[in-house]
Amino acid sequence: MKDVAYFILCNFLVFSNITIAADTIGINQSISDGETLVSLDEKFELGFFSPGSSKNRYVGIWYKNIPDTVVWVANRNNPLIDLSGVVKIDENGSGIVLINGTGSVFWLASSLRSAGNPVVQLLKSGNLVLRDESSDNIDSYLWQSFDYPCDTLLPSMKVGISRTANRNWNLSSWNNTSDPSPGVFTYSLDQQGLVQFVLRRGSEIMYRTGQWDGAQFGGVSEMKNNSIFHPIVLYNTEEVYYTFENNENTTISRFVVTQSGLLQHFKWDVKQNEWINIVTMQKDTCDQYARCGAYGTCKIDHDQVCSCLKGFIPRSSPDWSAGCVRNVPVNCVQGEEFYKLRGLKLPDSSYFFVNKSRVSAERCKMICLTNCSCTAYATTAISGCVLWAGDVTDIREFSEGGQDLYIRLAASEFGKQKDARIIILSVVLTAILISGLGYLFWKWRTKQRGNRNGVVLCNTSNDTSREFAGSNMIGANPELPIFNFEKLVIATDNFSVDNKLGRGGFGSVYKGKFPDGQEIAVKRLSKRSEQGSEEFMNEVVVISKLQHRNLVRLVGCCIEGEEKMLVYEYLPNKGLDSFLFDPKKQSLLDWRKRFQIIEGIGRGTLYLHRDSRLKVIHRDLKASNILLDEELNPKISDFGMARIFGGNEVQADTRRVVGTYGYMSPEYAMKGRFSEKSDVFSFGVLLLEIVSGKRNSSFSNDDESPSLLGYAWELWNEDNSLALIDPGLSKPPFQEEILRCIHVGLLCVQDFVEDRPSMSIVLSMLTSEMVHLPPPKQPAFTERHISSDLELREKIRKSGSINVSITEIHGR
Ligand SMILES: *[C@@H]1O[C@H](CO)[C@@H](O)[C@H](O)[C@H]1NC(C)=O
Ligand SMILES: *[C@@H]1O[C@H](CO)[C@@H](O)[C@H](O)[C@H]1NC(C)=O
Ligand SMILES: *[C@@H]1O[C@H](CO)[C@@H](O)[C@H](O)[C@H]1NC(C)=O
Ligand SMILES: *[C@@H]1O[C@H](CO)[C@@H](O)[C@H](O)[C@H]1NC(C)=O
Ligand SMILES: *[C@@H]1O[C@H](CO)[C@@H](O)[C@H](O)[C@H]1NC(C)=O
Ligand SMILES: *[C@@H]1O[C@H](CO)[C@@H](O)[C@H](O)[C@H]1NC(C)=O
Ligand SMILES: *[C@@H]1O[C@H](CO)[C@@H](O)[C@H](O)[C@H]1NC(C)=O
Ligand SMILES: *[C@@H]1O[C@H](CO)[C@@H](O)[C@H](O)[C@H]1NC(C)=O
Ligand SMILES: *[C@@H]1O[C@H](CO)[C@@H](O)[C@H](O)[C@H]1NC(C)=O
Ligand SMILES: *[C@@H]1O[C@H](CO)[C@@H](O)[C@H](O)[C@H]1NC(C)=O
Repeated sequence: MKDVAYFILCNFLVFSNITIAADTIGINQSISDGETLVSLDEKFELGFFSPGSSKNRYVGIWYKNIPDTVVWVANRNNPLIDLSGVVKIDENGSGIVLINGTGSVFWLASSLRSAGNPVVQLLKSGNLVLRDESSDNIDSYLWQSFDYPCDTLLPSMKVGISRTANRNWNLSSWNNTSDPSPGVFTYSLDQQGLVQFVLRRGSEIMYRTGQWDGAQFGGVSEMKNNSIFHPIVLYNTEEVYYTFENNENTTISRFVVTQSGLLQHFKWDVKQNEWINIVTMQKDTCDQYARCGAYGTCKIDHDQVCSCLKGFIPRSSPDWSAGCVRNVPVNCVQGEEFYKLRGLKLPDSSYFFVNKSRVSAERCKMICLTNCSCTAYATTAISGCVLWAGDVTDIREFSEGGQDLYIRLAASEFGKQKDARIIILSVVLTAILISGLGYLFWKWRTKQRGNRNGVVLCNTSNDTSREFAGSNMIGANPELPIFNFEKLVIATDNFSVDNKLGRGGFGSVYKGKFPDGQEIAVKRLSKRSEQGSEEFMNEVVVISKLQHRNLVRLVGCCIEGEEKMLVYEYLPNKGLDSFLFDPKKQSLLDWRKRFQIIEGIGRGTLYLHRDSRLKVIHRDLKASNILLDEELNPKISDFGMARIFGGNEVQADTRRVVGTYGYMSPEYAMKGRFSEKSDVFSFGVLLLEIVSGKRNSSFSNDDESPSLLGYAWELWNEDNSLALIDPGLSKPPFQEEILRCIHVGLLCVQDFVEDRPSMSIVLSMLTSEMVHLPPPKQPAFTERHISSDLELREKIRKSGSINVSITEIHGR
């Protein structure tokens, strides 16, 4: 029926390999290592390959005309170690088998049925199937690779469950670029209630899509009908799954669980010859699962991302990720009401139940109200009335879009009952009285000390600092003066708006001037900021111990009652961002100046990492945290996020990821793991921004174009890095130095921690002490890299003296 045509492909000729250009093999045929099956439209190819630096042999499917993109692997867990592998139909005609030269089975795809005339075919969709040629029903497969997904979802492939076939379609990341065996990340259907999907790291949930509402997932507005593909969620009693279709049949796109645990959709750009990332489901820190704990809500454009839902207060003060507890408990008594919260990603819960039949909003409310274990409800377009029992978690607020949640609160929260009002009033009055007395006592104490010495140690003057004393970080710092509140009020003209310079990590910054003419910048902690208080103390501790000309200098501090302030030297030129990204001021930074700034930031960071008495990781290096003095010398500021490391500590983990997206290294953004190398990553981003004069974040708004890192990488590969340089800069004498900077920048933003150079090496590279720089690997957040079958072949045949160029490997 089908002609089996053999022919020799031009670019395989150098390896003298015979390729089966058919898409089908029958019972007496096989595919040996070196041979491939090709789908009819020549889109997909099946054969043997070795990933990354590995020499192991795997059978996989990849795009025939796109290098390095394996979409499926057969023997993920069981590689061959030599070239003796053969794929064929097993003798019973009921399975596909991979054996080596001595007949050991390395992989078996078996079906319960057996076929009269079995054939293995690679379909145009990229699906490898075993079917019965003698059967009438051509779409009935004995076995298909689409039922065993690896890390990639192709159009019409499913992730979800089939109850009838008792099957899970889960995606799992590769272990690493050289090892396709299942890594730590899996993406699967959450089988508890409504249709949603979760990403797990081991058994721990890392990310949740939010419920499917018919058009999109509650937590990812990007994952809806777009110009490239449309997502499809199907749910009935037999199957629940997610899949997608491309809008045009010429489009090539795929969805992947990356090795770093990102859920990303890519589209192949034929012109650029590059995978373009069109959706990353995890956008920011608020997408970390249960980022703000029970009854906490996460909002990205707040000073602190976490806050409590109305009617709730933080469980434990400094740590907001511990979640929130009720102000007033609910007991399922008369008068309890629901408070409407707008624009949310609806919460997850230990469990929830759904009334699938359509009920009115009023009825839904009544059902929840009359069930004492119901804590919240929502009415959704697709599932109707949704009720939550127990604590609700993983809520985020959107500036636009999102859904509404009604949360049960005690009657007193609505101020309806007199009793409650009286109780609140008396509580408030008592609180005022107590704090008033406390304040007077505080004033008195401060005066006593002030009288004694005139200068008080910042660190011993407040209880908040105690938590740091134990860790032996704060030690005495006799030089740091404390200013009294009045003095700062006068200096800043009562914190007048005119003197406001901007907002720092946890409060506003004001310009001030002491009577003797000294100019200062006063950072005032917002009074109600709990998290800020922690960051404040952190900053005092860190910066008071450091002195370097590329770090902003702390002049003193002020802690009086609720007021907490840091007093810095005043730097008239504000942040680097205000020059670099301002079309008018940009030209003031010529290359000499920019290079000095790069070096300065590098020196400052190296000092933090290595040369200071402490080892400090800044964790939030970015353009707006680099201040410029009169001569435009850079000074690193904002140590609110910084962490001090003990002597031999090289890496730490945190549950609380703070920092700025775009500057955060992948291991820190995704796993909360930070080290010197995460600062190196931020430095690399900053370096590329300085060279290009473009904000990293300015790229991410546009779905079609790659990030600054992706763009820089693209140009690098095209050997066209000059195009990255800010057009205002490109003066020939410095071109080499600029290119060197781009090279160093790319080395800093490499995906793997161990590939990134340390800060001291970065400086030697910049100052050309180090002549030969290693070539950079692909930056983080762009795409993974798998070397092809052919690359290994090249290695194997290296002794054979055939000179293969890169273009040949890519088959173009
Ligand atoms: C396979 O080979 C056997 C023996 O060589 C032969 O009897 C049989 O007809 C062949 N089957 C097909 C489908 O070619
Ligand atoms: C073929 O079928 C026989 C009997 O049903 C069974 O014992 C044998 O294991 C099967 N072989 C393969 C490779 O599945
Ligand atoms: C086939 O695999 C088995 C088990 O791994 C091994 O012992 C044998 O040496 C292999 N044969 C060849 C030819 O590689
Ligand atoms: C798929 O994921 C679900 C839920 O995470 C799990 O229960 C199931 O065992 C997984 N199935 C497979 C085949 O890995
Ligand atoms: C990949 O993971 C394997 C273990 O799964 C390990 O042996 C290997 O060194 C890793 N390779 C790289 C490049 O990290
Ligand atoms: C892949 O990584 C996981 C977790 O890191 C590990 O448990 C597993 O053994 C690795 N696989 C291989 C083949 O090393
Ligand atoms: C998305 O697009 C597809 C095809 O263009 C269409 O069939 C489907 O109804 C659309 N879905 C929504 C929710 O707009
Ligand atoms: C794409 O669809 C059009 C119209 O349905 C069809 O004529 C064309 O052959 C298809 N192209 C491919 C590559 O499938
Ligand atoms: C679900 O809604 C229907 C229609 O209002 C109602 O008759 C039924 O009792 C509800 N089921 C539950 C469990 O509340
Ligand atoms: C109340 O909610 C619980 C789940 O939290 C459920 O098991 C129970 O059946 C509900 N009671 C009524 C009367 O609907």
